[in-house]
Amino acid sequence: MELHGMLHTILSELHIGMLVLATGMIILWLIAARSRREEIRTLAIIADRTAYVAAIAGLAALVLAALAGLYTTWEWEAVQSTVLTRNKIMISALSMAFWGMLVYVRARQGEHVWQRPAITGLYLALTLGGFATIVLAGSLGGVASLKGTILDPFFDALKLNRYVMLVLPQPINYSLIVVTLVVTVWSFWVARSGKGDRGKAR
Ligand code: HEM
Repeated sequence: MELHGMLHTILSELHIGMLVLATGMIILWLIAARSRREEIRTLAIIADRTAYVAAIAGLAALVLAALAGLYTTWEWEAVQSTVLTRNKIMISALSMAFWGMLVYVRARQGEHVWQRPAITGLYLALTLGGFATIVLAGSLGGVASLKGTILDPFFDALKLNRYVMLVLPQPINYSLIVVTLVVTVWSFWVARSGKGDRGKAR
């Protein structure tokens, strides 16, 4: 068992490192990009490109870590029936969606992702979602391996029971579906109407 679980641990630490780097570089861009000093603005450009590469590599390692989590840790019956690991599977999938969309938006928009407020807002929201889900999945990993997590005080403060399925009440589920549909239709309309092309210099 020890050797088995280790592959998941190594791949998890790897993608956590790379995706935290990507998040840190995006925050560095926010701090440095508007500097009057050219060398600081150059640093912001390097940070933006580092974030892009780290997000791509981190996403790839996240997928491998999840596969290792599914197939090289506990017996399959235990992995797919234990509430804790089912929560991890759900949060990992959400994290892949956030980082996947972030990489797609950066690939489509290039460095002009920072010149259009709507796209910049989306990019930062995806960064926040991606980071939060990685922290949550990693902390549940510490709970699963009975080593605890630094987020324990946070979970306690929010009276969050880690061993209960993270299910949202139905009304919230339906509202999220409606919001997602509205945002998707709006995004297509913006894309097709060219309204999002303001400042396009790709
Ligand atoms: C399909 C998704 C995943 C499954 C099924 C899964 C499953 C597991 C299981 C069963 C353990 C306990 C292993 C043991 O007993 O030592 C574990 C530990 C762990 N997992 Fe995951 N995991 C998944 C995704 C993730 C992700 C996305 C992360 C990181 C963000 C992560 C980070 C960890 C960590 C840090 C540990 C503790 C490792 C240790 O210190 O021994 N896991 N995971």
